[in-house]
Amino acid sequence: MSSVSASRSPSLFSLLFLSSFLLVSQIHASSESVTLPFLDGLSYNYYFLTCPKIERIVRKHLEDVFQKDSGQAPGILRLFFHDCFAQGCDASILLNGVGQPDEKQNFANIGLRQEAIQTIENIRTIVAKQCLRVVSCADILVLAAREAVRQSGGPDFDVRLGRKDSLTFNVSAPNNLPAPFARTSDLLKIFGDRKFDTTDVVALSGAHTFGRAHCTSLVNRTIEDNPPIDPDFKNKLKATCPSNANPSTTVDLDNITPTKFDNVYYINLLNKQGVFTSDQDIAQDPRTKDIVRSFATDQKLFFNKFANAFVKVSQLGVLTGFQGEIRKTCFATNSGNGLDGIKSVVEMAEMF
Ligand code: HEM
Ligand SMILES: *[C@@H]1O[C@H](CO)[C@@H](O)[C@H](O)[C@H]1NC(C)=O
Ligand SMILES: *[C@@H]1O[C@H](CO)[C@@H](O)[C@H](O)[C@H]1NC(C)=O
Repeated sequence: MSSVSASRSPSLFSLLFLSSFLLVSQIHASSESVTLPFLDGLSYNYYFLTCPKIERIVRKHLEDVFQKDSGQAPGILRLFFHDCFAQGCDASILLNGVGQPDEKQNFANIGLRQEAIQTIENIRTIVAKQCLRVVSCADILVLAAREAVRQSGGPDFDVRLGRKDSLTFNVSAPNNLPAPFARTSDLLKIFGDRKFDTTDVVALSGAHTFGRAHCTSLVNRTIEDNPPIDPDFKNKLKATCPSNANPSTTVDLDNITPTKFDNVYYINLLNKQGVFTSDQDIAQDPRTKDIVRSFATDQKLFFNKFANAFVKVSQLGVLTGFQGEIRKTCFATNSGNGLDGIKSVVEMAEMF
């Protein structure tokens, strides 16, 4: 591949440059004792030498994408969550099974948008042209999800980078994702097992402030009144989603501001207009209802707590350093068989 030979001299250069940079930043950190170094191998300036334009490239491309289809923003945010919750933020969700089921076929991944998946691969292609093969699909997905929130009106915040892409996927890993009929106790357990607290759970549920649900995901809401549901809202849901609804029919998760990332989701919950059982239940449960109320009245508070919880999600089970690889396509491992031993010169240079 021409990209590998072309990379030799710049990577040797960056090897030397990067080591002195790391040395300087360590001295800086210890003399000022600002914060302890992060121990998971991620950093804010990870692509400072190898792809300084990465954040701008992702941002610009998505401005066009979201302008043409605002639904891609929630599509990408959900893809990010479903990647990170299954085996970690390692882009395993993007791997195609080729003759065997992959993570996308797991029932928990019903409704994933194919266009959102393709967008991540499209960004990888653009990035690879401008920076060689140095940026992982896993990092691109995290950056794209941050943009999805930001460009839809939500909070802006920094994320650390340096994730590697997985060499494997696990079709059962998405089993751990929460179901739409989960109760607050289930959510607190599922998220608590991964060190998320009650505030994180309420804030992360606020991701349902935009995007869509397929009728199959909300049947229980049209046939039960527990947790409570506004009767008019229930009738509307039933009208769109009768028992014989076309499986491709969808409803907006927030029918007041369906494409905006804002705190209206929580106002809807106070009005008993949550789409999923899991949504409405956090407005009733004594452990979570006061947090719901506080987010409904204070969008800034919600944004701060959401950004904080997003960053926690983005650090789940990351592969760094010599783990994993930088894929040549987000849809397959570099060896194609899930066992990739040989790394490019650029990948080696990054390690030091
Ligand atoms: C709290 C537990 C959660 C449950 C039970 C849950 C469940 C679901 C379900 C069933 C759907 C609809 C899928 C469909 O029918 O097409 C959905 C959509 C969505 N979820 Fe969640 N989810 C949860 C948490 C999260 C989190 C933490 C995020 C991101 C941070 C997230 C982001 C989204 C988004 C943006 C959509 C809309 C997707 C689109 O429009 O393509 N969800 N969720
Ligand atoms: C696949 O995921 C399931 C569910 O999390 C887990 O029990 C199993 O150990 C995983 N398999 C591998 C090979 O990691
Ligand atoms: C409805 O809720 C029950 C648990 O209360 C669950 O077992 C069932 O799968 C749910 N149905 C759907 C389609 O979500």
